[in-house]
Amino acid sequence: MLRAGGVVAFPTETVYGLGADAENDAAVARIFAIKGRPPTHPLIVHLGDADELARWCSTVPPLARQLACRFWPGPLTMILPRSSRVPNAVTGGLATVGVRVPSHPVAQGLLRAFGGGIAAPSANRFGAVSPTTAAHVRDDLGCAVDVILDGGPCQVGLESTIVDLSSGRPAILRPGGVTREQLEEVVGQPVHVRGGGAVRSPGQLEQHYAPRARVVMCRGEDLVAEAHRFIASGVRVAVCTGEVPAGLPPRVECIPLATSIIDVARKLYAALREVDHRECDVVLVTLPVESGVGLAVADRLRRAAGAGASWSDTGMEQGT
Ligand code: TXA
Ligand code: MG
Repeated sequence: MLRAGGVVAFPTETVYGLGADAENDAAVARIFAIKGRPPTHPLIVHLGDADELARWCSTVPPLARQLACRFWPGPLTMILPRSSRVPNAVTGGLATVGVRVPSHPVAQGLLRAFGGGIAAPSANRFGAVSPTTAAHVRDDLGCAVDVILDGGPCQVGLESTIVDLSSGRPAILRPGGVTREQLEEVVGQPVHVRGGGAVRSPGQLEQHYAPRARVVMCRGEDLVAEAHRFIASGVRVAVCTGEVPAGLPPRVECIPLATSIIDVARKLYAALREVDHRECDVVLVTLPVESGVGLAVADRLRRAAGAGASWSDTGMEQGT
């Protein structure tokens, strides 16, 4: 199907991807059309093996090789100067390309059998929550996709960490399954998370990864009072948090996440989809401690809450 210019949804360890032959402009254009994604937002090229880096990137700095050696196959995307092999359709005209070697056995098998690079964004409609099961892909994209490969639920559950190695100091553009602390061990110095600036990556848009329901962040100790307040105002409320506190109003929809942050990451997107499935108007969430994978979970929750909608008005400062 990929060789024929088709579009194939496939599992990775992070989220499901919507893949096409990275060197087939028409196939890549179909990805943008299916997702409803602006053509200037670049796609990640998935490779079967780190040995293919040199074919897709014009320069591969020693640090890129070290990171590949340590974290590939796995949930890390590197932004590097692109080679002439990479079509403009993939990069939206940028001079750089995002590359990643996924570890999921189905993704690995697909890449090996295909032989080339597979351009793939997450297999959801633009702006929506990424899919972590084949059923999520079918719910979002249905018949628009030629094939959906079902590899079960994704193990990481959040998109890959994106690290920009294309200029100056390495910087994280999107926190993910490979943690900042793990990156710093290899880089040997602090690695900052770069936000703001020109938005070329949808992952950097303020409102992204959002369910239909309004996402409201609150402190754990305010959760019960906030739930009562929203219920009293007549809206349908869900609570999505690690440990569900006692004393919630009976009409609240409880969608417990997990207590370990790894499990929270794994379950988060399915939980946000469940909020919409239960037709809630508002979902109350709490932020985890922002270290390790908690940094990525907090990032996605902030984006889901969107600009201006960040904190419930219990005196907490605005999120960024
Ligand atoms: O885990 C993942 O990364 C998943 C799986 C399928 O691999 N893919 C994914 O793709 O999340 P997507 O397109 O939904 O998000 C990739 C992000 C986008 O924000 C995109 O703009 C950014 O990576 N990106 C891609 N190439 C880039 C580049 N050359 N410079 C800056 N950002 C880039
Ligand atoms: Mg995406």
